[in-house]
Amino acid sequence: MRVIISGTGIYNPPQSIDNEELVKSFNEFVKKFNIDNEKEISEGSIDELTLSNEAFIKKVSGIEKRYVMDKEGILNPERMMPSLKERTNDEPSLQAEIAVKASEEALKQSNKEPKDIDAVICACANLQRAYPAIAIEIQNLLGIEGYAYDMNVACSSSTFAYQNAVTDIKSGLAKNILIVNPEICSGHLNFKDRDGHFIFGDVCAASIIEQNDDVHLESRGYEIISTKLSTVFSNNIRNNFGFLNKAENSDPFSHDKLFIQKGRSVFKEVVPLVCSEIKGHLDQFNISIKDIKRFWFHQANLNMNLLIAKKLLGREAYDHEMPIILDEYANTSSAGSIIAFHKFKDDLEEGDMGIICSFGAGYSIGSVIVKKI
Ligand code: COA
Repeated sequence: MRVIISGTGIYNPPQSIDNEELVKSFNEFVKKFNIDNEKEISEGSIDELTLSNEAFIKKVSGIEKRYVMDKEGILNPERMMPSLKERTNDEPSLQAEIAVKASEEALKQSNKEPKDIDAVICACANLQRAYPAIAIEIQNLLGIEGYAYDMNVACSSSTFAYQNAVTDIKSGLAKNILIVNPEICSGHLNFKDRDGHFIFGDVCAASIIEQNDDVHLESRGYEIISTKLSTVFSNNIRNNFGFLNKAENSDPFSHDKLFIQKGRSVFKEVVPLVCSEIKGHLDQFNISIKDIKRFWFHQANLNMNLLIAKKLLGREAYDHEMPIILDEYANTSSAGSIIAFHKFKDDLEEGDMGIICSFGAGYSIGSVIVKKI
């Protein structure tokens, strides 16, 4: 039985912030903070904050702008976080709403209707509530029967969900599965942190994974040759927000309840892990790296992706071999590699192979070898 990615879709929030705007508001916040705390800073009880810089952001990350659900709250130096209206229980949640929009494009591309779908997997790094599962809400909004569940493996949620979908299809549980990655990363980003305030953006990606027999002639897709997952525990990317925060009497606004990372260590440790994962995966199928026409990598850092490709290929990658969407989207967690795939998958020839690879917190790495059909 062949399992196919027959359609993908994305939802882009209507607002975006470029580096210039982001740095301007951050620097206003810094200047005000330093004036407000002048006495404590001179006494040494509070550290003086340092200005951010656009050239640094572009150089170390490749990021130029990001889409966001709310620009005004993020750019307000008095707030420095998105300002989102709390919805009632009778209104669709924000994640479900953007997932439905991305799903509509994916369904159209795969020539499917909601009635054809048997399962929904909502796979992302942050879920806006504990339960009911966002996936079940999406299932309900789209009018899908069958089963639905949420899952979280941070930036690798999408590739881990691909593996779940393949397994469910091969075991006969489902024929057509909708995977959504609604990533509202601006909600977990500390916009007051100079080291990371530029890193993330918001988006939703969607994919339809289906049994080969169901692919309509006009909806050409990609066969999933194999998925390979691996995890290695690390504290270098962490977020301590959780349901026990209240019981532990911990400060809900402390920095560790948002995304924190040791970026340098992540860079150094994750690059070799990803290289060995991809090499091992290709070796398993006797596929040479030379036969891989495209790398749809996780989009966290341009330099990291360039280095991984160089180590794998033994030379610099050409732009067309390793598409980058970071400049426009920033890091969108699990959605990043799927957005790259969505935007740069149509030009390959029948039989061409590529790899979708995610990597991130956990550490978690997911490699998906695909072939154009
Ligand atoms: N503006 C100007 N300078 C800044 C700055 C900013 N916004 N933020 C940090 N700096 C300074 C630092 O203070 C440091 O100065 P120093 O050398 O005088 O100490 C210097 O720039 C380098 O900082 P560093 O944090 O070491 O930069 P980096 O080259 O490692 O880049 C990351 C930072 C986070 C972009 C990079 O490490 C990264 O992307 N790593 C991988 C992260 C990743 O993939 N995470 C997964 C998330 S899902």
